[in-house]
Amino acid sequence: MNEVTHQTHRLDVETFRSAMGSLAAAVHIVTTHHEGRDFGLTMTAVCSLSDDPPSLLLSISRQSATLEAIMRSKRVCVNFLDASHSDLALRFADPARTDDRFAIGCWREGKSKVPILRDSPISLECEIMGSFEARSHRVLACEISHVHGDKAPGLLLYANQAFGRFESI
Ligand SMILES: Cc1cc2nc3c(=O)[nH]c(=O)nc-3n(C[C@H](O)[C@H](O)[C@H](O)COP(=O)(O)O)c2cc1C
Repeated sequence: MNEVTHQTHRLDVETFRSAMGSLAAAVHIVTTHHEGRDFGLTMTAVCSLSDDPPSLLLSISRQSATLEAIMRSKRVCVNFLDASHSDLALRFADPARTDDRFAIGCWREGKSKVPILRDSPISLECEIMGSFEARSHRVLACEISHVHGDKAPGLLLYANQAFGRFESI
């Protein structure tokens, strides 16, 4: 009864980060192509929206340079990663490496010109259906237009500031 609880409006940032940081999430590289340039960032805030139409939700920081390109091109590729891709995930999260992110990994052009990671377990090319601003982030609804690959097991996960993979118990 005397347990300390935090009301939502008083939740401090550190408590939130610690709780959410322990939540294991699959890691993706979300890419786009705009005016002759490739862009991409590492993301965990990717989830299923519906199966009719097949669609995803993405939440991207409004400070992201990739977000600006995505909002203009209206297209993305959501590249799932596996345990061999942790270096790529770090490179695409590094704000100091925006110019040479695609120098590592093997990339090809998708049907809508978005960069597809050749050895991704599964890559989903999407069109942006709509979006809204949520304070620091923009939430995007994306309809899947093309699916490349079908190897979903063995995905790269991120929790407690470390990469790992899922193990059945
Ligand atoms: C494991 C991991 C997951 C991340 N997930 C997200 C995310 O879901 N949304 C987001 O906006 N940034 C996320 N980031 C941070 C971006 O990858 C990072 O800020 C990147 O430098 C943005 O690049 P840009 O400004 O060139 O778009 C994540 C970083 C890491 C390491």
